[in-house]
Amino acid sequence: MKELIAEILNHFLNLKKEEIINLLEIPKDSKLGDFAFPCFFLSKIQKKNPDIIAKEIASKLKNVLEFEKIEPINGYLNIFLNRNILAENVIKRIQKEKNKFGCSDIGKGKTILIDMSSPNIAKPFGIGHLRSTIIGNSIANICSTLGFKTIKINYLGDFGTQFGKLIVAYKKFGNYQKLKKEPIKHLFEIYVKINNLPELEDESRKWFKKLERGNKEAIKLWKLFRALSIKDFNKIYSMLNINFDEISGESLYGKKANNVITLMQKQKLLKKSQGALVIELEKYSLPNVIIKKSDGTKPYITRDIAAAIDRYKKYKFDKMIYEVGSEQNLHFRQLFKILELLGFDWAKNCIHLSHGLYLDKDGKKLSTRQGKTIFMEDILNETIALAKKEIEKREKNIAKKDLNDRAEKIALSAIIYGDLKNYRQNDIVFDIEKFLSFEGSTGPYLLYTYARARNILKKSKSKLNQFKIGEINDLEKNLLLQMNLFPSIIKDSFNSFSPNLIANYALHLAQTFNEFYHSNKVIGSDNESFRLALVDAFSQVLKNALSLLGISVINRM
Ligand code: ARG
Repeated sequence: MKELIAEILNHFLNLKKEEIINLLEIPKDSKLGDFAFPCFFLSKIQKKNPDIIAKEIASKLKNVLEFEKIEPINGYLNIFLNRNILAENVIKRIQKEKNKFGCSDIGKGKTILIDMSSPNIAKPFGIGHLRSTIIGNSIANICSTLGFKTIKINYLGDFGTQFGKLIVAYKKFGNYQKLKKEPIKHLFEIYVKINNLPELEDESRKWFKKLERGNKEAIKLWKLFRALSIKDFNKIYSMLNINFDEISGESLYGKKANNVITLMQKQKLLKKSQGALVIELEKYSLPNVIIKKSDGTKPYITRDIAAAIDRYKKYKFDKMIYEVGSEQNLHFRQLFKILELLGFDWAKNCIHLSHGLYLDKDGKKLSTRQGKTIFMEDILNETIALAKKEIEKREKNIAKKDLNDRAEKIALSAIIYGDLKNYRQNDIVFDIEKFLSFEGSTGPYLLYTYARARNILKKSKSKLNQFKIGEINDLEKNLLLQMNLFPSIIKDSFNSFSPNLIANYALHLAQTFNEFYHSNKVIGSDNESFRLALVDAFSQVLKNALSLLGISVINRM
C-alpha cells in the first residue's frame, strides 16, 4: 500500500517515490490515520512551517479517490485509505502471490551462511542447542524469503580432548550393545564415569594425541561414536523438520589448523609462552588466546579460524552468522579479532548472534532435572504425548495416524513458538504446559486459529477470486491493514535478526482475525463473498508467517 500512496503523493510533491516510501509512517494509534506522512523534511527545503505544508498538501489531496480522509495535524499528513481500494489491493495481491506473499529480492545475488545447531558428538543434544537450531532455522527462512542464498551449516563438535576421554572410557566400561541401542545415552554415561576418575586423565590425553596423529584404533572408535551420534541427532532434526545444507564439524579442521598456525607465524602474530603458542590480544582489551597447546594439540578456536577461512574460500559469503549461546560471546569476539588481524576484510561480516538460557520454572538453569541431564529427544516425546492427550479430549475416535501427525505438529508449534516469541537474547522459562495451552500467546493458539479459518472456507462453495466488496467495517479494515503489514515486518525482523518480531506479528494477526470473526458472520452474510476472500487471505498470511518460524499448519486441531 505504501507504493500506492507514494505513487499518488509523487504527483503532488517534489520527491521521488522511494523517498516517500521511506518517509511514510504507520501511526501507533489508528485514530491518527492508516499512514502518516511527516512534513518536517519538506519544511527544511521549502523554509516553511511544517503545519502549513501539511495543510497545503491536504487541500490538494481532497479529491483523490484512493483516500477516504486526509487530516493535517502537527506537521503530519494523516492519511486514511479508501477501504474498498485497500481491500481490493491487499486481497488481490495475496491471492496472486500466495506462499510468496512477503517475499522480496533485496538479497538477490548475496550469500548468507548460518552456523547453527552444532551439537557435540557423544554428549546429549543440549537444550541450548535446541535454541540455536530453532532460532538459526527461522533466521535462515527469513533470509531466504528475502532472496538471499542461505547456507545452513551444522558444525558438529566432533573433535577435541573429550574424545581421548571417551576412547579410554569406552575401552574400560563400554558396551557395544548399549552403544548401538542408545548411542548418546551410553556415551554420556561412560563420559560422566570417567570424569570422576582423575587418575585416567593422563591416559586420556595420550589417546587424544593418538587420535590427532591418525592412530588406527583411535580413529575407528571415533568414527563409530560419530556415526552413531549423528544418527541420534538426525532423529531430532527430522522431528523438528529441519535440514542442513552442510554437515561440517571440528574434525574437518584438525589438519587445516596447522596451516592457520603457519600463516599466523608468518605474520608474526604468535608468541611462545610456557611451551604454547599464543596470540596477544591485550591491546584490544581481550584476553590472550592459546593457538597451540604445549602438548602440541590445538584448541577449539584454532579450528574455528581454519573453518572460517575455508568457508570464505568456498562461499564468498556476504555475511556469516554464528547462532551460538551467549556463554561463547568472548570466544567469538576473539575469533573475529584474530581474523581481522590476519588481514581478512570479510572479518567485519562475521556476526555472533547469541541467545539466552532456558530456565526451569523455579528460575534455575534448565539443563538437568532432579540432577539428571535432560535429553532433547525425551522432551520432544513428552510434549507429543501431552499434545495427544489434549487432542483425544476433544475428539474421541480419531484415527491413529491422524492423531500422531497432529500431535507432532501441535507439540512442535508449542516448543518453537514458546521460544521464538521471546527476544532471543533473553532467558526464557521452559514451561511446556504453558507452551501447549490452546489459549494465550502460544503455538497451538495460532494453529487453532488457522484451522478455524480453514474450517469456515471448507463449508462454503463459492469461488474465492470472484468476490464483491460491499461496505467494509472497522474490524475488516483492521485485518486488512494487519495483513498488509507482513512484508515490512519480515524486513524489520531481518534487520535485527529477530524472529520474535514475526512471532508477535503472527499473534497480533490471529487476534485481529478472531476479533473480526467474533462479531461478523461470514457464511450467509450480505458480504459473504468478500468475507470468504478475507478469511482465505488471512489464513494464507498466517501460514506464511508461521512457516518463517518453522511451524507447519494443520487444517484441524
Ligand atoms: N559445538 C559447540 C558447542 O556446543 C558450538 C559450536 C558453534 N560453532 C562454532 N563455529 N564454534 O559449544
